[in-house]
Amino acid sequence: MKEVGATSPGRAIDVAAGEGRHALWLASRGWEVVAVDFSEVALRRAQARARADALAVGFVVADVHTMRLPPARFDLVLAAFFHPRPSERPALYPAMAGAVAPGGSLLLVSYDKANLTEGAGGPRDPDFLLDPPALAEELEALGLDVTRADTVRSRATAADGTEVDVVNTVIRAVRR
Ligand SMILES: C[S@@+](CC[C@H](N)C(=O)[O-])C[C@H]1O[C@@H](n2cnc3c(N)ncnc32)[C@H](O)[C@@H]1O
Repeated sequence: MKEVGATSPGRAIDVAAGEGRHALWLASRGWEVVAVDFSEVALRRAQARARADALAVGFVVADVHTMRLPPARFDLVLAAFFHPRPSERPALYPAMAGAVAPGGSLLLVSYDKANLTEGAGGPRDPDFLLDPPALAEELEALGLDVTRADTVRSRATAADGTEVDVVNTVIRAVRR
């Protein structure tokens, strides 16, 4: 979440928030956050952590493909390590882009196409991996200005404790 570290807090939605690591981080920095996921179990864990850390986060159990995202509502729309099917993206990305308020950002962070050959973990089907130039073009077509579209290489600790290479895409697009 280094990417939003310098941004003034506002309203954020964490799409497919899982156990809420990003939503909680944002809330700890003053953001008013809604975390959405269709897993009640994941959101219950996130809620328990929020309570333990005395953080106010809104939790919504919903399928992000069918829920209505309010237009122009959020200063940050975040989706991290969420892998919609290719057939789901043509509806989802416009809905997420449409939820960005003027001056706000859409931030997508997930496994990059290069992770297939140069990194560990993540989906092994290239259709679920992000391609920064293609995605940037898609978001520009939705009326956003892409300010960052990068392939980012890092090291991570795998479940078995070994150090592995991971290649992610980080895309930020703003609504002027
Ligand atoms: C790999 S986890 C990532 C969680 C979190 N964003 C993070 O970075 O830690 C993917 C999450 O997407 C959620 N998810 C997948 N499809 C979804 C859908 N259609 N609607 C809501 N949540 C969904 C899963 O329940 C899971 O919590």
